[in-house]
Amino acid sequence: MRLTRLVGALLPAMAFLSCLRPESWDPCVQVVPNVTYQCMELNLSKIPDNIPTTTKNLDLSFNPLSHLGSHSFSNFSELQVLDLSRCEIQKIEDDAYQGLKHLSILILTGNPIQSLAPGAFSGLSSLQTLVAVETNLASLEDFPIRHLKSLKELNVAHNLINSFKLPDYFSNLPNLEKLDLSNNKIRNIYHEDLQVLHQMPSFKLSLDLSLNPLDFIQPGAFEKIKLHELTLRSNFDSTEVMRTCIQGLAGLKINRLILGEFKNERNLVVLDKYALEELCNLTIDEFRIAHFQDFPKDYRGFLNCLADASAVSLMSLNIGRLESLPTGFKWQYLKLSNCKFEDFPTLKLTFLKQFIFTANKVITTFTKLNLRNLEILDLSRNGLSFKTCCSYRDFGTTRLKHLDLSFNSIITMTSNFVGLEQLEHLDFQHSTLRQASTFSVFLSLKNLLYLDISYSDIKIVFQGIFDGLISLQVLKMAGNSFQDAFLPNIFRDLTQLTVLDLSQCQLEQVSPEAFGSLLRLQVLNMSHNHLLSLDMLPYKNLSLWLLDYSFNRIVAANGQELHHIPSNVTSLNLTQNDFACVCEHMRFLQWVQDHRRILVGAEHMMCKTPLAMQGVPVLSFRNTTCQMNQTVISVSVLSVLIVSVAAVLVYKFYFHLMLLAGCRKYGKGDSTYDAFVIYSSHDEDWVRNELVKNLEEGVPPFQLCLHYRDFIPGVAIAANIIQEGFHKSRKVIVVVSQHFIQSRWCIFEYEIAQTWQFLSSHAGIIFIVLQKVEKSLLRQQVELYRLLRRNTYLEWEDNALGRHIFWRRLRKALLDGKPWSPEGTVDAEGSQDEAMPSI
Ligand SMILES: *[C@@H]1O[C@H](CO)[C@@H](O)[C@H](O)[C@H]1NC(C)=O
Ligand SMILES: *[C@@H]1O[C@H](CO)[C@@H](O)[C@H](O)[C@H]1NC(C)=O
Ligand SMILES: *[C@@H]1O[C@H](CO)[C@@H](O)[C@H](O)[C@H]1NC(C)=O
Ligand SMILES: *[C@@H]1O[C@H](CO)[C@@H](O)[C@H](O)[C@H]1NC(C)=O
Ligand SMILES: *[C@@H]1O[C@H](CO)[C@@H](O)[C@H](O)[C@H]1NC(C)=O
Ligand SMILES: *[C@@H]1O[C@H](CO)[C@@H](O)[C@H](O)[C@H]1NC(C)=O
Ligand SMILES: *[C@@H]1O[C@H](CO)[C@@H](O)[C@H](O)[C@H]1NC(C)=O
Ligand SMILES: *[C@@H]1O[C@H](CO)[C@@H](O)[C@H](O)[C@H]1NC(C)=O
Ligand SMILES: *[C@@H]1O[C@H](CO)[C@@H](O)[C@H](O)[C@H]1NC(C)=O
Repeated sequence: MRLTRLVGALLPAMAFLSCLRPESWDPCVQVVPNVTYQCMELNLSKIPDNIPTTTKNLDLSFNPLSHLGSHSFSNFSELQVLDLSRCEIQKIEDDAYQGLKHLSILILTGNPIQSLAPGAFSGLSSLQTLVAVETNLASLEDFPIRHLKSLKELNVAHNLINSFKLPDYFSNLPNLEKLDLSNNKIRNIYHEDLQVLHQMPSFKLSLDLSLNPLDFIQPGAFEKIKLHELTLRSNFDSTEVMRTCIQGLAGLKINRLILGEFKNERNLVVLDKYALEELCNLTIDEFRIAHFQDFPKDYRGFLNCLADASAVSLMSLNIGRLESLPTGFKWQYLKLSNCKFEDFPTLKLTFLKQFIFTANKVITTFTKLNLRNLEILDLSRNGLSFKTCCSYRDFGTTRLKHLDLSFNSIITMTSNFVGLEQLEHLDFQHSTLRQASTFSVFLSLKNLLYLDISYSDIKIVFQGIFDGLISLQVLKMAGNSFQDAFLPNIFRDLTQLTVLDLSQCQLEQVSPEAFGSLLRLQVLNMSHNHLLSLDMLPYKNLSLWLLDYSFNRIVAANGQELHHIPSNVTSLNLTQNDFACVCEHMRFLQWVQDHRRILVGAEHMMCKTPLAMQGVPVLSFRNTTCQMNQTVISVSVLSVLIVSVAAVLVYKFYFHLMLLAGCRKYGKGDSTYDAFVIYSSHDEDWVRNELVKNLEEGVPPFQLCLHYRDFIPGVAIAANIIQEGFHKSRKVIVVVSQHFIQSRWCIFEYEIAQTWQFLSSHAGIIFIVLQKVEKSLLRQQVELYRLLRRNTYLEWEDNALGRHIFWRRLRKALLDGKPWSPEGTVDAEGSQDEAMPSI
């Protein structure tokens, strides 16, 4: 039951969702709004409705369009580029592209076209490039492109075309420059196939016939024909076929001929010299040959055929030796790449301007060249060693502008480019430079613009190393090292420098003057060093806009230094450093937040310390944490202070507090004793015999609190003094004597008594001075002394009259505030008075 209801609810929802499928929504990627849309592989069967009509570039590749009806694209009249690769298109109707007046590139690669209407491409009046690779095309003759007057490039590679017959309508395509017929089924080329080219002498076609299984070219077929470029790679099964075919090219005038095989498409097992010598009957300006595994050893003859060529490239050939070539050769450009030379070629080509000799891994040492017009020399990637370098004597030229010695072995610097003052570009990267930091190697290179000595294993000790490079604009010196990991001011002369790469130089410190002369510097790479702080001072005056400080060990920067950040910096890379996300660096962390606009990958700047923050983005560090911490700290410091002061006070006034607590507890009126007697133990006799006798046994009797008698055993004396003595007594009698004053204990008791008097309003202290105390002694107890001076006290006199008066006064004082008692204390005074004479 429930299940069916659930399904019943879900089904409409799913139906609704399926309406929102990509097709009706917005499936395409908007690369440039209103201009470029990419709708690749979206299972579309038609163009989505929401593509704006202003679109210029539309990529619909890998969608199952299957069939293009007429006016399929008429709503997109602005289209310039339309990619319909692999759209399973089988049928293209008349006027399918009608209205695309601006379309210049149409790509139809990989569609299994069965039916192509005669007017399929009509309306494409601006089409320049038509790519119909892999479209089941069987012949150019039937291909309905005769009206595409603006066509420049036609690519029909990888089809089923078996005839090279260039259709007559080519004469209607005056702009055609490039025809790619590679990877078709063409076997034979006959004279009449090229009829249209004979009729149009101005044509200069670039023709690619690679990967066609050529068997035969009719002799004279290319007689008097001019081509811009002809590519014949992996066309021949045998050297015989190759020879007859090249024979068939006799009389051809060509700008560039490209012969060879593809690395992974090798047909020819043996190549003999005669096949190549047939090239003598062609007029070739630029010749390239590549990837013949079995290159004939005796190939000099064929090179003679190329004597008048201006450019020759021999690449990936099995050539062991290049015999010295006649000086009469007109070659200006020679490239020898990835061959197996056993000796360094000795060339005397007087016209040679560019010599590129790269990736020839067999030879290990360089021998001197003598090429007096050479301007560009590229000897990179050979693993060569140079025993001397570099002066005009090494290359026999003073015209050199570009020298590339990168990716070689050891290069020993013995000269500072004497006679090579024209050099503008110099590349030594990834070669090991010896003695480069012992003298001003580059001193004479006043015209040098570009210098790359990256990863050349130099330890820079000599500060004049870059002296003389007054025009230099780019200096790349990554992967070298400095003495003491310190960058001194070695750039004094480089006032024109705009790009400097100092990455991976193990730098720990930078001199504040290091960049002082580089006022034009725009890009500086300090990444992958060991710098500990972001010191901006050295960069202050520069017009830098990019500064790469990534992969260092920067913990933070102090706020002062950050003021020096050059004003033009728009890109500062501080990622991959060791940031400490602690409140101490709050200013720096705040600066990061404020400058994330110029910080590259600011969201990828991670904290390294403290451990708890490791891997957390620096941007997520919050100010408030610190502010809160400050409050917490100050509050806790304050409370600790208060507590300790309180503890000290409690410790000091513990007894006084006990008194205070007791006052509350006992309150008024419930006193057990009339008086608590404080005395020195030396005066105990007097207390027992005189005081106790007279007061407790007289009329009315007073109840005294005496510690030897009334204190509870087992309770601390101090506690007893307070609880038994003070709290339960109305008055305190202080028996002052010489001993009393000298006893600290007595003085303590007396001080408590004072507090007690202060706390309980009704209390009173009665002083009895037992014997004359020396004034000097009394003065030590300032408080007591003062009290005695200010208050009246009872003085004990050991004679009849004195005693009488003493007891009278003491009783009177004790009676003060004594509650009425049934024993008739009211009369006590009187009765005492009566009794007086008897004393
Ligand atoms: C795209 O075209 C639409 C309609 O023509 C227009 O409103 C819009 O502003 C355009 N957008 C851009 C980015 O040009
Ligand atoms: C493509 O769309 C069709 C219907 O237009 C559908 O039948 C087919 O399953 C879809 N293919 C994929 C892979 O989505
Ligand atoms: C062209 O656009 C109109 C209106 O937007 C629409 O009715 C028509 O179907 C579109 N034509 C094509 C071929 O998509
Ligand atoms: C090709 O050149 C050779 C000499 O190198 C010559 O004997 C031959 O007649 C030429 N062939 C054509 C077709 O010009
Ligand atoms: C700086 O050098 C490092 C490595 O040497 C490199 O990855 C980085 O892209 C360079 N930065 C810039 C801005 O070129
Ligand atoms: C920057 O320029 C000022 C004057 O323009 C100068 O005084 C100062 O020394 C320079 N700073 C550095 C680091 O070169
Ligand atoms: C910053 O750039 C502007 C223009 O890009 C330039 O005029 C100015 O001189 C630069 N500032 C510095 C300090 O170099
Ligand atoms: C740092 O950022 C710059 C600018 O985006 C970039 O060119 C450079 O490659 C980055 N550095 C590293 C080491 O990725
Ligand atoms: C962080 O603190 C600084 C002052 O130290 C203040 O200017 C800034 O506004 C604070 N930022 C936030 C996000 O609280």
